Amino acid sequence: MTIKRTSRAAAKPVPGLPLRVLVLHGPNLNLLGSREPGHYGLATLDDINRALVSRGEAAGAAVETFQNNHEGALIDRIHQAAREQVDFIVFNPAGYTHTSVALRDALAAAAIPFVEVHLSNIYARESFRHHSYFSDLAVGVVSGLGAHGYELALEYALRNLQNRTPHGSQKTEKAH
Ligand code: DQA
Repeated sequence: MTIKRTSRAAAKPVPGLPLRVLVLHGPNLNLLGSREPGHYGLATLDDINRALVSRGEAAGAAVETFQNNHEGALIDRIHQAAREQVDFIVFNPAGYTHTSVALRDALAAAAIPFVEVHLSNIYARESFRHHSYFSDLAVGVVSGLGAHGYELALEYALRNLQNRTPHGSQKTEKAH
């Protein structure tokens, strides 16, 4: 298990409007449930998404989910999120974690704070998985906690972005 948090500041959601969270899943995650369960568990993508959407509803936040197997489609979805003023992204870039400068650039351009999530502990696997193009841009990284990692990332957004003051600032947990 690895949980890493950097000091990147969170966005300033608009007080009074529901928090908007986008959960993005990269390639092959549509196969969750049957894909290498020893690494990725038995929960399907639908199970994961349903749990996140209903947690969001319970907290008064709008949680949207999107999975795609193509880099360009993920990039387009990030651009759309910036236009829609999404407050926070929970992102499992899957195989693109280790290859995609273009997706990294899209997140940098969108300037939406995000948590990077991996079901498996990428640092306990092949060495090519140890490098991520996203971790230094992320608010934090959750790796190795299975589907629970997505829930922790969403909880982070709900706790830190919904506790904002009427002036648009918010009480964030101190990075350490
Ligand atoms: C993954 C880890 C990546 O190395 C891999 O390519 C994936 C899934 C994970 O969730 O553990 O597709 O991001």
